Amino acid sequence: MRRVAFTGTGYHVPDRIVTNEDLAGMMDTSDEWIRERSGIRERRWIAPGQTNGDLAAAAARMALDDAGLEPTDVDLVVLATISSDNFFPGNGVLLERDLGMGHVAALDVRNQCTGFIYGVATASAYIKSEQADTVLVVGTEIQSPALDLSDRGRDMAVLFGDGAGAAVLQAADGDGDVLATSLHSQGQFNDALWCEMPCSHIPGRIDATHIAEGRHHPKMNGRLVFKHAVRRFCEAIQEVLTKGGVDKNDLALVIPHQANLRITEAVAKRFELTPEQVFSNIHKYGNTTAASIPIALAEAVREGRLKCGDLLVLVAFGSGFTWGANLIRW
Ligand SMILES: CC(C)(COP(=O)(O)OP(=O)(O)OC[C@H]1O[C@@H](n2cnc3c(N)ncnc32)[C@H](O)[C@@H]1OP(=O)(O)O)[C@@H](O)C(=O)NCCC(=O)NCCS
Repeated sequence: MRRVAFTGTGYHVPDRIVTNEDLAGMMDTSDEWIRERSGIRERRWIAPGQTNGDLAAAAARMALDDAGLEPTDVDLVVLATISSDNFFPGNGVLLERDLGMGHVAALDVRNQCTGFIYGVATASAYIKSEQADTVLVVGTEIQSPALDLSDRGRDMAVLFGDGAGAAVLQAADGDGDVLATSLHSQGQFNDALWCEMPCSHIPGRIDATHIAEGRHHPKMNGRLVFKHAVRRFCEAIQEVLTKGGVDKNDLALVIPHQANLRITEAVAKRFELTPEQVFSNIHKYGNTTAASIPIALAEAVREGRLKCGDLLVLVAFGSGFTWGANLIRW
């Protein structure tokens, strides 16, 4: 079967830095509470007028430049987001427009924080089955406009940020490959981490009462999510290690979805991973949903944390619930 290599990575975050102290000026919270519970010190928020499409295009251009490719070299765009610029169409087609990609196939993935894992699995399957040679996978998110910045929404508002990351996956003859994938969902917990409104089955999709009740803001049962996240992160990692016949000690790097430093630490402890084996940048960006793994991947590459032949695990858990992992030989 054909092998799948990561030939380029890229990321883009907005310039505007919002610190924990800035949030403490907007709602009843503190730098200490946020740092102790999540490890987050600051996050990026878009400037007025900036769009999800702007972030995605900048990250995608960087990944294509890194791969030495033109936008028209891409056979398939797989774009993961839950904050598309319009109710429909999704942002995949906007990327085709903004980069001038010559009517390329554009597939939107909405698997929340697990979106990039599903995207890599999809890209790999297309390439291995010879339906595509070059796939651009993007994870991009603007959460800041959706947050409830009153005390009512403080549990969510302090955790999330905006950003985009991208990777180019190509058919290749070298050692690099997507070795194994695990993908899961459990819809019974859909309202444990969700944004209820606007919803398609209500006339007008939203009304003033829903807005007054804050039902258009994302909501979360934090403790339940935490408990499930640690369990499912560990299961997904173990599943791809078993499928790939790889020992955890042979992993050069695990890039977990940047949900919460305490979740990352609990997973690292469970697998007895060293700090060198686990990537974290949550202190700078918070949780950027589908963007967090590709941003972290692009930063890890630029920090020299991955070399040819290294074994890498990408792993995520999120709303749905959804969870999964990719085992990759770099
Ligand atoms: C959200 C989370 C940080 C809360 O931490 P926690 O230790 O569980 O905190 P609790 O839920 O026990 O809340 C403790 C108190 O802090 C309060 N609180 C909530 N948000 C706060 C904030 N931003 N600032 C200050 N206090 C806050 C709560 O109201 C609660 O007050 P009470 O005891 O008077 O009721 C934690 O549950 C978590 O990380 N969950 C997973 C979140 C996640 O990763 N989601 C994305 C997955 S993809």
